Amino acid sequence: MSGYVASKYQGKYTITPGIQAMPHVINPAQQGDVSAMIGRFLFPFAVSFLMPLFVHALVKEKEDRIMMMMHMSGLSSKVYYLSHYLHFLLQQWVASVVFIVVGAALQMTFFTRTNPLVYLLLMLLWSHVQVCFAFLLASLFSSSRRALILTYLFVTLSVIVGSMSSVIFQNTVPYAWYIHPSFAMYHALHLITAHASLHHHDPAHFVSGQCQAPVAALMSTHPHWQGKAPRSLPNAQAPSLPTKDRGQTGKEASTSLPAALWLTIPSIAALLGLCQAQATRKHCAHSQMAFLTMPMLPQITDTNALNERKNIMADAYDPQCNVVVKMIEKTFAAGNTAVNDVAFSVQPNIVFGLLGPNGAGKSTLLHMLTGLIAPTSGTAIIAGHDITKEMDRVHCSIGVCPQHDIHWGDLTPMEHMLFYARLRGIPKEHEQAEARRALSEVQLQRQSDQPAHSLSGGEKRRLSIGIALLGNSKVVFLDEPTTGLDPQVRRVIWRIILNAKRHRTVILTTHSMEEADTLCSQIGIMASGALRCIGNQVYLKKEYGSGYRLSLAAAPQKLEVACRFVESILPPSWRRIDRFATTALYEFRSEGSRISEVFLSMQKNKDALGIDDWGLSQTSLEDVFMNIVSNAVDEEPARAHETA
Ligand SMILES: Nc1ncnc2c1ncn2[C@@H]1O[C@H](COP(=O)(O)OP(=O)(O)OP(=O)(O)O)[C@@H](O)[C@H]1O
Ligand SMILES: [Mg+2]
Repeated sequence: MSGYVASKYQGKYTITPGIQAMPHVINPAQQGDVSAMIGRFLFPFAVSFLMPLFVHALVKEKEDRIMMMMHMSGLSSKVYYLSHYLHFLLQQWVASVVFIVVGAALQMTFFTRTNPLVYLLLMLLWSHVQVCFAFLLASLFSSSRRALILTYLFVTLSVIVGSMSSVIFQNTVPYAWYIHPSFAMYHALHLITAHASLHHHDPAHFVSGQCQAPVAALMSTHPHWQGKAPRSLPNAQAPSLPTKDRGQTGKEASTSLPAALWLTIPSIAALLGLCQAQATRKHCAHSQMAFLTMPMLPQITDTNALNERKNIMADAYDPQCNVVVKMIEKTFAAGNTAVNDVAFSVQPNIVFGLLGPNGAGKSTLLHMLTGLIAPTSGTAIIAGHDITKEMDRVHCSIGVCPQHDIHWGDLTPMEHMLFYARLRGIPKEHEQAEARRALSEVQLQRQSDQPAHSLSGGEKRRLSIGIALLGNSKVVFLDEPTTGLDPQVRRVIWRIILNAKRHRTVILTTHSMEEADTLCSQIGIMASGALRCIGNQVYLKKEYGSGYRLSLAAAPQKLEVACRFVESILPPSWRRIDRFATTALYEFRSEGSRISEVFLSMQKNKDALGIDDWGLSQTSLEDVFMNIVSNAVDEEPARAHETA
């Protein structure tokens, strides 16, 4: 070959033998640059690990009903979401700064070869997208554990699928792909990492910084993004959005990433708005269509309840009343009417007892009165404010102790009090004093600096009551405040409630008749969602009690004679409830002056008849309760039959 060339060109050209390396195709993934490797696989995780924690925190507050509790204490949804947004954004920024500082300290090319403006802007934008996305995801879960696991799974899948975009879409990645914020972000990270790893590229700047719009600066000014890919970069490995015609569509590619990132924001906002609108529409539609599924009104025969209803319908109730419930009703989505056309009013400075069997609708009624759920129809006036129009004002005038304790395990009782004092709008200079007063009112001074998770059941309950009694709430709702407490603690709480009623109206639900009898000046009994009767103990016992009870105990051989004597002196309405070997129990209604006659006869003849012991008592509130509830149960099948 050399001889041929020499003879052909007569020495003009010669061939010099030598060895030259094959042209080397730069593949960023094979560069051996640690930061490139880390960037490809770990950066996406590093920038996303906080989102599942945000989702977990939001769902946990929903699950533990802390959100509900804060809402009932006057925190508006706007403030709740805004404070979480800022808190999460701050956390994400701190994490981003740590990420950047560590990367720069380790001399990773991602940070050293890229204009800091690029990754700073990217991180700021990403933080916002992450927090918005966390809010969206949190709305899909009700269990925090499941939310945490599934969101981490979601992030992992996003990283894997996102990194495979060039495999999935051979030529062009559709814009829609980047609507998922993670895909857009991971792609941006991949591009910066790949670019930074090109050793022959001018390391000074990934972006020149001439752009006016900072977001557009992310991608649009670099030659590669304008279709001028470095020669050493083969198309298959080019860190750009794959395009059909790179030269022509480079500009499209250059704007697609920021566009995709921005696209996510309105789309998330639109989705959130949609959910909200959907919920509102559902509620409105439900209210409008309520007449179609309107439950039959229960047969209320109680004179007091009927009078109350008449007065409330005519707006002729006492304006002093702190609580006026106006024909309120709640039907849940499943068609279950939990509260059915309830109307009553409550005067200030009294404890109003709301009694009823399990599932009667007491908590649902309280949830409506405290703004936790919206009524299907009807309304209520609490401390002068309508719950359907001025719930924010209502929240400033009420205190709530929910049926189940809702606390932050890590916060102390003092911290709880200070937090809720701030929510209730107590002036800052009085917060400490008010928190201490409330703690002493529920006798928790000794435990004031102990984390709430270490408190006993009774102490936790007292903390919930203390929170309800904070500030100058005009109305305090206590949903079964003493359930599960020992008799001694129960009595402590009774004293607290009796103290509290001096300048407030207390609405108390309970299953303890003894508690209702001791604390309440007015009692309403609910059954199957309806208020069956209302009045003070004397009225209820007179109207619904079975009268009086007479018990006696005698030796077995003398009991028969003693019983015959008792039956002869009792009014004709008597009925024997129990008879055992040595005891008997009778029930009878008072008729005229018979009670005193019975008492005197028993006193006079007990020794002659061999009666060892005897007693006469008025029937208890428990009898009244049983009577009302069993009437309601008997009524149900009849109404079901009528409806059919
Ligand atoms: N979110 C809901 N969705 C559907 N039904 C509900 C909902 N909340 C309550 N209910 C139903 O409403 C009815 C009344 O429940 P509520 O909790 O008000 O009763 P309660 O009188 O407080 O009972 P308890 O004494 O056991 O606390 C029940 O049948 C219950 O299943
Ligand atoms: Mg309840």
